[in-house]
Parts: sequence; structure tokens; C-alpha cells
Amino acid sequence: MSIENEKTIEVYRKNANKYLANTIEYDNIYPEKVKQKREKLEKFIKKNIELLPKGSKIFEIGSADGLNAKYIQSLGYDVTASDIAEDFINEIKKKGVKTIKFNVLEDEFIEKYSAVFCWRVFVHFTKEDALKVLQKTYDVLKKDGLFIFNAMNCEIKETSEEWVDFSNEFHMGTERYYKYFSKSELDDIITRIGYQIFDFHKEGGESNNKWLVYVLKKKDTIYNKK
Ligand SMILES: C[S@@+](CC[C@H](N)C(=O)[O-])C[C@H]1O[C@@H](n2cnc3c(N)ncnc32)[C@H](O)[C@@H]1O
Repeated sequence: MSIENEKTIEVYRKNANKYLANTIEYDNIYPEKVKQKREKLEKFIKKNIELLPKGSKIFEIGSADGLNAKYIQSLGYDVTASDIAEDFINEIKKKGVKTIKFNVLEDEFIEKYSAVFCWRVFVHFTKEDALKVLQKTYDVLKKDGLFIFNAMNCEIKETSEEWVDFSNEFHMGTERYYKYFSKSELDDIITRIGYQIFDFHKEGGESNNKWLVYVLKKKDTIYNKK
């Protein structure tokens, strides 16, 4: 794993409870904005996850508060949430979701999954980390499996990477590594690995292009795009 990710997860390990508290504080300050974002994300998750038979095994990488995993579970799927910080694991357990401590760059998957979900985590990966995660998820997916993830778009930034302290934005007040990807560099890795881009869009920010959102699948799947 990269030194960038290693240092960043150390920050999460030490500050997970603060991160969780800040999320609640942010939700209370901007309830309407948060509600709209949540509804949009859940609609997106539902549309794609429901391509899979109910009861399918789904793995989430970097679940933090476990809200997304809980939502996927509520749709009738067998979800395993994961993260690297003990305090996140405890929070996810409180929500009644099965969870394991798992560093996607270091640990090995022990089961096969029908889908892997990874939301706002690639932002802490170098290009080499991203390549590793895309390869690992490809290997762990069942034949007709989906990998759903997003990455921050470099079009909105003047740099492709930086260390950021978002203390004034209700984050943790300590620096984490942020990587901004171009669509072409991700597309290149994705197709080299053998994934098919099943769906793609940009969303968020002032110009609706802050995030690159991908739904990937192993080739030869039976799904038809809705
Ligand atoms: C910005 S938070 C996003 C949390 C959640 N997915 C969400 O959308 O609210 C980034 C998450 O990625 C996790 N993370 C970063 N590097 C990781 C790694 N190597 N393995 C597993 N999780 C990682 C962090 O612990 C943190 O929970």
C-alpha cells in the first residue's frame, strides 16, 4: 500500500469517533441538503444493486458510519460492511450490519461476492493503490458481479493530488491524502483489467462534475441496462 494511504488511515483510526460526530453535526446544520443527497444516492444504489437477485452477497469497502451498507441490507441483500478503524466497526455493528475490519490494500477477501461497493474511498488512493483495488475486486467478484465506486474528478482541481485539512468544513481537522483522477486514466486501468463499464456519470459540485461514478461488471454478464 502507498505511504499516502497508510498515513491517511492512521488519521481515520485516531479520529473515527470525531468523524462520526462531525457527520452528525453537519447533518444537523444542513438537513435539507443532506436529505437530498441521501435520496439521490439511495436511488442510484437501488437501481444498480437490484440488478442482482435478492439475498446476493455484497461487500462494502470503507463503510465508515455504515449507512450505505445498512441501506443495501434493507433492500434484501446479504451485506458485509468493512473499514479499518475499530470505532467505525463498532458504529456499523450498532446499526445491525455484519462487519469486519478490512484494509483493502493489505487484506485478502475470503469469499466471493456478487457486488462490491466503494463510495468516496478512491479519493484516498494513489493511482497504484487504485490499480490494486480494481484488480482485487475483479478477482473477488462472481462471474456476473458488479463493482460500484466513485472517484474525485481532476477537472475540478488544479492539482492531481494534495494533503487536505478540512477543519473548517466539519471534517477532522487533520490532514488526509486526496487524489483527483482523470476519467481517461481510470478508464485505461479498468479496461486493462478486463472490466466492462456498465454505467458511468459525473455528479456533484457546482458544475455537476465533482465525482466520476462507475458501475463496472465482469464481462459476459446477463444483465440488461435499465
Ligand atoms: C471519506 S470516508 C467515506 C466513508 C463512506 N464510504 C461514505 O461514503 O460515507 C473514506 C473511508 O475510506 C476508508 N479507507 C481509506 N483507506 C482504506 C483502506 N485502505 N481500506 C479500507 N478502507 C479505507 C476510511 O477509513 C474511511 O472510512
